[in-house]
Amino acid sequence: MKKQSMDSPLVLLGGLTAKAFMTMHWQKKPLLVRNAFKDFKPIMNRQSLFDLAKSEDVESRLVVHSNDAPKGTGQWSLAHGPFRTKDLPKLSQKAWTLLVQGVNLHNDQAAEILNQFNFIARARLDDLMISYATDQGGVGPHFDRYDVFLLQAQGVRRWRIGKNKNHQLEPNVPLKILSNFTHTHEFLLHPGDMLYLPPQYAHEGVAMGECQTYSIGFKAPQAQELTQELFSLMSETLGEQPWSANPLYQDANQAPTQSPGEIPLSLQFFAHQQFLKKACDSELFHEALGVHLSEPKAHVYFNPVEAPKSVQAMLSRLKKGAPCVVRLARQSQMLFDEKRIYINGESLKASGFERTLLRKLANQRVLQSEDFEPFMNDPLASRMKGLLELLHEWAEQGWVLIDFSNMNENLDKAGKP
Ligand code: SIN
Ligand code: CO
Repeated sequence: MKKQSMDSPLVLLGGLTAKAFMTMHWQKKPLLVRNAFKDFKPIMNRQSLFDLAKSEDVESRLVVHSNDAPKGTGQWSLAHGPFRTKDLPKLSQKAWTLLVQGVNLHNDQAAEILNQFNFIARARLDDLMISYATDQGGVGPHFDRYDVFLLQAQGVRRWRIGKNKNHQLEPNVPLKILSNFTHTHEFLLHPGDMLYLPPQYAHEGVAMGECQTYSIGFKAPQAQELTQELFSLMSETLGEQPWSANPLYQDANQAPTQSPGEIPLSLQFFAHQQFLKKACDSELFHEALGVHLSEPKAHVYFNPVEAPKSVQAMLSRLKKGAPCVVRLARQSQMLFDEKRIYINGESLKASGFERTLLRKLANQRVLQSEDFEPFMNDPLASRMKGLLELLHEWAEQGWVLIDFSNMNENLDKAGKP
């Protein structure tokens, strides 16, 4: 994956630079891009998508709309996968939609599409969802908490969008449908066209004939969820800390009470102080954030592949300048901050060339021989073995795929369920 220049115009963004897009549109206003992906062909056909929706490990939903039913509950039905093909309505039936989340976890081309959006922090990326719809299919007028790029993959979809201030939802409907949707713009999207929408921008997509749309979603973490996760992660580390960092409440000077139901002020004070101490420990806090943001989602699994036999052999091949590729598995989430590296919910400290290389792996998702080369004659090169041991361990867990020339088969097998 090449590093993108922030100042070169991108076809993906209709000729805008990443910088201009982030300044003018990101989180601010929609952008319609005709031919964002030139000659775009869907990455999977209808049947392959239906096959994916059969799996327990894939999150999928089926939305069926019926115009004949009375307004309200009867018009919309929602079911959760997995679905056997016979669970899906007939192809000749109008107005149904199959939504398949996290396709990037199962398909390299989907993961590759996400790489085009590398000008946005990976910590914000959620997934690539595919929606398949028969004629007139859609999920109704709604808004999302996400920044989303809606890429038309097959057929035509009509999008109506508007800034709707009124967020009132239809009662007794299994989906979040806006009651008073009004649109200000309407577009017909053809394959390769893309529409960016900021969070909470109301939209309604309707299939004009059979169609597939890819939603590339960027999650905006919400305060409550974030603080809840972080405090839980931070408190998990308590037990591992020395006794002095985990004191018992003491009340040796407590006078007898005449109000036994009342919480003692000194206990309140103790609890508050301990809580603040934790919250103010910025190192612990940042580590918890990195762990949280890199944690795999519940249904993500890794496919361990055969790692190279010996770390020593890896080292000598690298020293000889033999071609090598270390690639993050498509399911892996690797991030870093000033102090640490995070991968799939684990954190580690790294310095020197190890840090340089690991940060590069997080940014590019791949390391090649050229990346290792400048460090092979480093006075600290003896530490290279330690780094290779770590990468080898990750390969055994299916987090990275290592290919040292003759070991190509590892890459081929990698990530395939
Ligand atoms: C869809 O593609 O049908 C739904 C995507 C969305 O509106 O966010
Ligand atoms: Co939406």
